[in-house]
Amino acid sequence: MARHLITSALPYINGIKHLGNMVGSMLPADVYSRYLRRRGHEVLYICATDEHGTPAELAAKEAGVPVDAFCAEQHDAQKAVYDGFELSFDYFGRSSSAQNREITQHFARRLQENGFIEERAIRQVFSIADDRFLPDRYIVGTCPHCGYDKARGDQCENCTRVLDPTDLIEPRSAISGSGELEVRETKHLFLLQSKLAGEVEEWIDANGAEWPQLASSIARKWLTEGLHDRSITRDLEWGVPVPADTWPELAAEGKVFYVWFDAPVEYIGATKEWADQDPAHRDWKSWWYEADDTVRYTEFMAKDNVPFHTVMFPATQLGTREPWKKVDYVKAFNWLNYYGGKFSTSQKRGVFTDAALELLPADYWRYFLIANAPESDDTSFSWEHFTTTVNKDLADTLGNFVNRVLSFSRKRFGDDVPAGGAPGEAETRLGAQIAELLAEYEGHMEALQFRKAATALRALWSAGNSYLEEKAPWLEIKTNEEGAALTLRTAMNLIHLYAVVSEPFIPASARAMREAFTTAGDTAPWVTAEEAKALDAVPAGTPFTVPPVLFAKITDEDLAAYKERFGGEESAA
Ligand code: MF3
Ligand code: ZN
Repeated sequence: MARHLITSALPYINGIKHLGNMVGSMLPADVYSRYLRRRGHEVLYICATDEHGTPAELAAKEAGVPVDAFCAEQHDAQKAVYDGFELSFDYFGRSSSAQNREITQHFARRLQENGFIEERAIRQVFSIADDRFLPDRYIVGTCPHCGYDKARGDQCENCTRVLDPTDLIEPRSAISGSGELEVRETKHLFLLQSKLAGEVEEWIDANGAEWPQLASSIARKWLTEGLHDRSITRDLEWGVPVPADTWPELAAEGKVFYVWFDAPVEYIGATKEWADQDPAHRDWKSWWYEADDTVRYTEFMAKDNVPFHTVMFPATQLGTREPWKKVDYVKAFNWLNYYGGKFSTSQKRGVFTDAALELLPADYWRYFLIANAPESDDTSFSWEHFTTTVNKDLADTLGNFVNRVLSFSRKRFGDDVPAGGAPGEAETRLGAQIAELLAEYEGHMEALQFRKAATALRALWSAGNSYLEEKAPWLEIKTNEEGAALTLRTAMNLIHLYAVVSEPFIPASARAMREAFTTAGDTAPWVTAEEAKALDAVPAGTPFTVPPVLFAKITDEDLAAYKERFGGEESAA
């Protein structure tokens, strides 16, 4: 069995994330982690808040709170939402931790020793109106590559190219909007990526072959355009300080590392945080350092994060000349849009994860989001689509099946799984179909094809409905009581199978389904093909209860209220 190291892109600290962030990194990573754990693999799923940088500083200023207190508060707020979504992190850390500071500084020292860091005097944009140096992302202007007029100085959101503020056409301050910018000289550390470009390319040639197209094409595009040296320090108060033992002058000036330098290191930093909490995790380095090939590292992220994870961070790791574990598989996502427009944290457009949980339990969102994950293209959220999906797939196909079967059986046969009847042709056919669909589902999960996995899961649920319609136990019982008992017992076995295999998608509902049966020793993490065929894991005589309705339908009134509250098509235009 492999050991799976799994990370999802670290959410920025400033503010609760929207559903687009959730589906583009954390949620699929959670579904995958849960699946692999059930299949008997050892999994370490790590995430953290990305706390440094200008946005955090400015948000804290706006809230009138010291930045460290602001981050502590926001970290807890995000963590609470992720708990609500049942994200099964092994550890959810903070990039401002002492562990990350230590490892980030270590990386920088090693890069310096190996000749990959250089101190350079640079001319930096100073905003006269704002009376401060402007970090790259606080300069906006027109992208020289695609013409997008709201490109930021660090990256163009539209074409994903990484930019330098001086590349922008008609630059202006994002804080004041002022175009009165002046260039002043100051010293910074530069990572000599140009010296590492060849090695990164070789590494991608050797390891990137099986990456999905979205990730490898972005990585290649970036390499083709040339790996430029990048400044990795900033004039900010909040960040990992440049270590004084190595760069006394810059340290004295209070320079800190650029947020994109310390953030990916926090994947390692958070693992150390996890280890420091519990002596049982003492061997944390076996995941990251001189890891053997039983460790498989999968990263989840949205497409704008791909260059940093496939090129920059690997370059940093390679430059340390130490055997740090590099990514094996990059699962990248396109955008989830809101009615065809962008979800926007700053413009408060779309559905935020905390508000989502106030409306409905996590499973509704988890299922909808994964079933519509923007894997091959951007996809769009609409309340109409959400309503149809919930009502059809969750309420009708799954929830109604469960309640119908259990209520009817209790009414006619009492509180135990009914005995009688021997499986016949219909059950053999059903078993074969279920085993086949299960294999399909497993195949898609192994391949990290989440939409296809959701389709296979839905097909498993549908197969139960078809079987029930075909056997019609409510008619059968009038003439053939044993036959009806067989049908219901088989259907209950399907419910149990659904409980086991749906868990990665809808953990709470899966628990409710599984707990409906009080089968002794019912702890199997997964279902084998033989068990799927036989459909007899829950034997006659097993006591059961009827759980409350698993999924409530979203009514027309609910739909209207959601659209009213969050804005639908009209307000998006
Ligand atoms: N906070 C970044 C974003 O939301 C992602 C950081 S991923 C990390 O785009 F690897 F750098 F941590
Ligand atoms: Zn562009």
